[in-house]
Amino acid sequence: MEKILVVGAGQMGAGIAQVSAQAGFSVGLFDAFPGAAERAMEGMKKSLAKLAEKGQIQEKPEAVIARVRVFTKMDEVASLDPDLMIEAITENVEIKLKLYADLDRVLPAKTILASNTSSIPITQIGAATKRPDKVVGMHFMNPVPIMKLVEVIPGLATDPGVLATVLKTAERMGKTTIVAKDRPAFVVNRILMPLINEAFFALGEGLASAEDIDTGVRLGLNHPMGPLTLADFVGLDTCLAILEVLHKQLGEDKYRPAPVLRQYVQAGWYGKKAGRGVYVWEAGGQKK
Ligand code: CAA
Repeated sequence: MEKILVVGAGQMGAGIAQVSAQAGFSVGLFDAFPGAAERAMEGMKKSLAKLAEKGQIQEKPEAVIARVRVFTKMDEVASLDPDLMIEAITENVEIKLKLYADLDRVLPAKTILASNTSSIPITQIGAATKRPDKVVGMHFMNPVPIMKLVEVIPGLATDPGVLATVLKTAERMGKTTIVAKDRPAFVVNRILMPLINEAFFALGEGLASAEDIDTGVRLGLNHPMGPLTLADFVGLDTCLAILEVLHKQLGEDKYRPAPVLRQYVQAGWYGKKAGRGVYVWEAGGQKK
């Protein structure tokens, strides 16, 4: 394993590209959206500068950044000749399946295709390609450079050798891995999203203010962040999409998305990335 292509330069893709480069891999970062990959590179520089300041990386940030090459055209990504592709695009099934059919066409036959999806079945993604044995889930947590976990998910057709390779690669990135079955939302989001959803039901009922709900969970349960703040970090649109998958695929009312969460998403209040979610966020990422 030497070369990793990351597809999608949002906050997750940028973080995955960064930890891959920190681990010494040659990295390609592809996003067709104009300016997205360049913005991600800026974010990476800031994150690496913080880590360097604290002595948490041994190399200079520029040396890590030098291992990342930006791509803006799908037809050019094959030139990287990647051993592994990690996709972190939007959680939309149609867009994702079309992307996988395209990647399957342009990437070398050896390339393992890993998805950072938090809720779309790996088996379904694999079926959109002619290499379902080389398709696997590799679910990182946000913020990727800080969070220690990667959930690895084999689909129905995933080769056990591919699973072993991906586990080893995540460990080389300094992550601890867990293996989850290909069931809706896997382990972490299966447990996290009902917590976040309940916080939105509580908010809707007026049980307490947003700040008090967050403080209650933060100090009462020793969580690093309250669930409403965390939802703003993850993205309210992403939380809603995951809850809808859980609700539809497991068919249980306990996963029904809270009306307030749905309404915030309808308003475009997607969280920190939109400057407004449950809270209002300044451009620098601080709560107002
Ligand atoms: N790169 C480098 N350093 C970073 C960073 C990044 N991207 N993000 C944060 N940091 C650093 C900060 O600089 C800070 O360093 P110092 O302590 O030296 O100042 C340190 O991390 C802690 O950050 P803050 O002081 O800003 O704030 P904090 O103490 O609240 O920690 C946090 C931030 C690590 C994000 C913590 O709040 C936390 O663990 N929150 C919960 C995160 C979580 O649950 N993530 C999972 C989300 S679910 C998911 O991702 C799955 C999904 O599919 C939806």
